[in-house]
Amino acid sequence: MQPPDDISPCAGPVRLRTGGDRPDDLPGPLHACGGWRSMSNPERDSRSFRDALGLFATGITILTARAPGGEPVGLTVNSFNSVSLEPPLVLWSLMLGSPSVEAFRTCSHYAIHVLADSQKALSQKFAGAREQRFAGLDTTDGLGGAPLIEGCLARFECRNDVQYAGGDHLIFVGRVERFERSVGQPLLYFGGAYRTIGRAD
Ligand SMILES: Cc1cc2nc3c(=O)[nH]c(=O)nc-3n(C[C@H](O)[C@H](O)[C@H](O)COP(=O)(O)O)c2cc1C
Repeated sequence: MQPPDDISPCAGPVRLRTGGDRPDDLPGPLHACGGWRSMSNPERDSRSFRDALGLFATGITILTARAPGGEPVGLTVNSFNSVSLEPPLVLWSLMLGSPSVEAFRTCSHYAIHVLADSQKALSQKFAGAREQRFAGLDTTDGLGGAPLIEGCLARFECRNDVQYAGGDHLIFVGRVERFERSVGQPLLYFGGAYRTIGRAD
C-alpha cells in the first residue's frame, strides 16, 4: 500500500532500552516507531515539533555571567554543544525574550557548568524564579567575574566571542579559555524529563 503524499516511511521498529521495549515512564507521545509516520509542519504544529526535538538526548548545563551592574545571572541550558577543538569553541543558544539576554550579550566571559546526575535540583533552581537562582549558593568569581559553581562534572570558562541571530534565539559561540573536569555521571534530559545513565553499552 502506498502512503499518502505527506506521509514518510519510518526506519522500522525502534527498541527502547530502559527495562522493556516500551517503557511506561516516558513522558509525552513517544512511539516505538514501526510504521508510517505523518510529516508535520513545525510552524503549524509546534507542540509536535518540540516533542520531536526532545527526542535528541542532551546533557544539562548552567550558564552564568556577570551583568553590567555587577549582579550574577544564570540559567539552565541544554542547547550547549562542542564546535571546534582548534581553536577551542563551544556554542549554546538563549531565548530572545529572556531577561538575561542583555547580560550575556555584553559580558566579556561566561561560565558553562556541566551538571552531574546528583544536580537535578540545581538545574530546576536555575530554570525557576530568577531571584532565587543564586540564593544559598557559594560561588567564586571566574574570568570576567562570571560566578563559578562548585561540584559540577565539568566547567568551561569562555570568552564571549561571537553571537548569531537564530530565529527566536541568539546563538553564542564561546572560546574556551579555561576548563576543569571531574569524574562522575551526567544529568541527562530526554523527552522533556530528567534522566540518568542506566548502563554503558
Ligand atoms: C532542561 C532545560 C533546558 C533548557 N535549555 C534552555 C536553552 O538552551 N536556552 C534557553 O534560552 N532556555 C533554556 N531553558 C529555559 C530556561 O532555563 C528557563 O526558561 C529560564 O527561566 C530562563 O531564564 P531567564 O528567566 O533568565 O530567561 C531550559 C530549561 C530547562 C529546564
